[in-house]
Amino acid sequence: MALMGEPRFLMCAPTHYEVDYVINPWMEGNVHRASRAAADEQWRRLRELLGQRARVEELAPAPGLPDLVFTANAGVVAGDTVVLARFFHPERQGEEPRFQAWFEGQGFRVETLPADLPFEGAGDALLDRGGGWLWAGYGFRSELDAHPLLARALGVEALSLRLMDERFYHLDTCLCPLSDGTLLYYPPAFDFQSNRLIESRVRPEKRLAVGEADALAFACNAVNVGDAVILNRASAALRQRLEARGFTVLETPLTEFLKAGGAAKCLTLRLDEPHPVALGGALAADAPAVAAASPSPWRAPFAMTGRCQTRKWT
Ligand code: ARG
Repeated sequence: MALMGEPRFLMCAPTHYEVDYVINPWMEGNVHRASRAAADEQWRRLRELLGQRARVEELAPAPGLPDLVFTANAGVVAGDTVVLARFFHPERQGEEPRFQAWFEGQGFRVETLPADLPFEGAGDALLDRGGGWLWAGYGFRSELDAHPLLARALGVEALSLRLMDERFYHLDTCLCPLSDGTLLYYPPAFDFQSNRLIESRVRPEKRLAVGEADALAFACNAVNVGDAVILNRASAALRQRLEARGFTVLETPLTEFLKAGGAAKCLTLRLDEPHPVALGGALAADAPAVAAASPSPWRAPFAMTGRCQTRKWT
């Protein structure tokens, strides 16, 4: 049994990890180029670092599902509820029943979205630690139309952010809410309206914008547990800025997983997310459920919805 208050994460060992197909720009040129032995070693070190600070649950790896290691995409958790992912690419859709069975076995209240509505879990939905709302990404993998459904299912306000740069195709590749309310993020990954929305919600001193080099090293794809920030790599300047806020920066190389477009955060899913109201968030029932990055203050006109960009990867 987990101790009360002990952080819990879900991971999946890279027994069947491989770059087998190309569904994001990081995978291009890397098909069959990841080393299983190096991936095992890097994953084991991440698991160890996390295991010193949290309880780590493991999902059984499965042959033919090389991206199952990226458990962040399983769903989004708030309190005892999980909204399961609906993967955009057929290559990952076989993961859905595995994640579903795991959550059901653990006694979560499991919510599913309509079958044709893409949404990629905590890859595109992150609870803000300061405000208690949900930052929800769209544009590449998740549909804007999923956001009001997440807000309703989780009883939380969803703030929609539009992703613009295909290298940062999931929200968790370019934005990371930290425990003290700091928002670590890469502003150029978002459109103008989304940047304004972030700036209207997060005070300047709580915004920690990273430069391109750190963003490309997946510094925003960090796992924050207590005062530890675990990530692939951080520049000396970023390390200093995080340390000045009282965080301990722990670098652990995850280069084999960067070849598939993922790093520390993608390889983990936080399972003990507090209910947003505990963080000061508004209940969806008392507040407009969705604030989209659009001229309309609360709801994007659906004519403007960002249909996922369907660039065909070879
Ligand atoms: N190859 C995986 C994909 O393209 C990587 C997923 C990374 N996960 C994440 N949460 N960003 O779907």
